[in-house]
Amino acid sequence: MQLGKPFGVVVLIFSMARACIAANLNDTNIEVKKQMQEVIIPASNTVFVIANEAPKNDEEWRKVKVNALALVESGKWLLKTPFGSQPIWKQATEQMMTDAKSVVKATDIKDTEKAIEAGDAIYAACEACHSVYLNKSASTK
Ligand code: HEC
Repeated sequence: MQLGKPFGVVVLIFSMARACIAANLNDTNIEVKKQMQEVIIPASNTVFVIANEAPKNDEEWRKVKVNALALVESGKWLLKTPFGSQPIWKQATEQMMTDAKSVVKATDIKDTEKAIEAGDAIYAACEACHSVYLNKSASTK
């Protein structure tokens, strides 16, 4: 077939570009997973546990505040990933950041109820992103 060679070259270039995009996404997934494991999971746990045990002193309140602030920073990082411009990713992250800021405010006035409420809202934001991205990202590994 006359068109064979050029067509083959085009296919080759196309598949190289695809492999390249896939590699970038894999790198991002690895980075996202690290961000989850090293920042988001421990930071959110510190916020979530107050539903079981309210902070007892300034030091414990401060710990909750620092971790809520870490979630806000982590949200900024999530928005800078290649997924950052996608609507659900963006919306879930912004929701997580808004709720984490509510936790920060609650720690300033040591309001356990408000902090727990905002913590529940954070959890909903985690779920909102995972419902779309957790499996998708796992399947590109
Ligand atoms: C904007 C999207 C997004 C938000 C918000 C988000 N996550 Fe994730 N999370 C992911 C993605 C994507 C993965 C899968 C990473 C991978 O393994 O490729 C993940 C993975 C995880 C995992 C599994 C990690 C592992 O070891 O496999 C846990 C646990 C987790 N997230 C907890 C949380 C918690 C808790 C929150 C909220 C405080 C949260 N995530 C918020 C996107 C998000």
